[in-house]
Amino acid sequence: MDLSDLISAFSNKGFTAKEMVVLSGAHTTGQARCQLFRGRIYNETIIDSNFATSVKSNCPSTGGDSNLTSLDVTTNVLFDNAYFKNLVNKKGLLHSDQQLFSGGSTDSQVTTYSTSPSTFSADFASAMVKMGNLSPLTGNNGQIRTNCRKIN
Ligand code: HEM
Repeated sequence: MDLSDLISAFSNKGFTAKEMVVLSGAHTTGQARCQLFRGRIYNETIIDSNFATSVKSNCPSTGGDSNLTSLDVTTNVLFDNAYFKNLVNKKGLLHSDQQLFSGGSTDSQVTTYSTSPSTFSADFASAMVKMGNLSPLTGNNGQIRTNCRKIN
């Protein structure tokens, strides 16, 4: 999605553009499948060329759809603000990532988080709690897992 569609999609669920941006910071950890970012690394122009070359080595133009690459190229196992530094350096993995820093209305927020880890942490915590309260299943309709990976 482009920025305007991302803003709309989150607005439809009651989230501000600011909350959408900070929640994207969750991409500071985890991995994504080649099929989700192939178009970006082969066709887009707002991308660091060395970064694109390196990601292509594990995501061929055809095949390898399920090959995994870190969403945060810098510090994938740390929950930090490197994701936002990456965006400033045109090293967002997904199209939606780089859209948050591509000359639009959310650039300034990305810049702020790229230089202020504490602001990112505080804003992320608030938005994460809010998202956790989005249409939760209650009573017998849901369960709180004792192990996140599987139903109880
Ligand atoms: C707590 C918040 C979030 C977590 C834990 C998270 C995690 C992930 C992970 C692990 C993937 C890779 C999935 C795969 O390769 O199968 C992914 C993909 C993606 N994420 Fe996030 N994400 C979060 C928030 C967001 C937000 C706020 C946005 C909106 C800007 C977003 C946009 C996307 C998009 C567009 C994809 C690719 C999906 C597709 O093309 O099918 N994510 N996310």
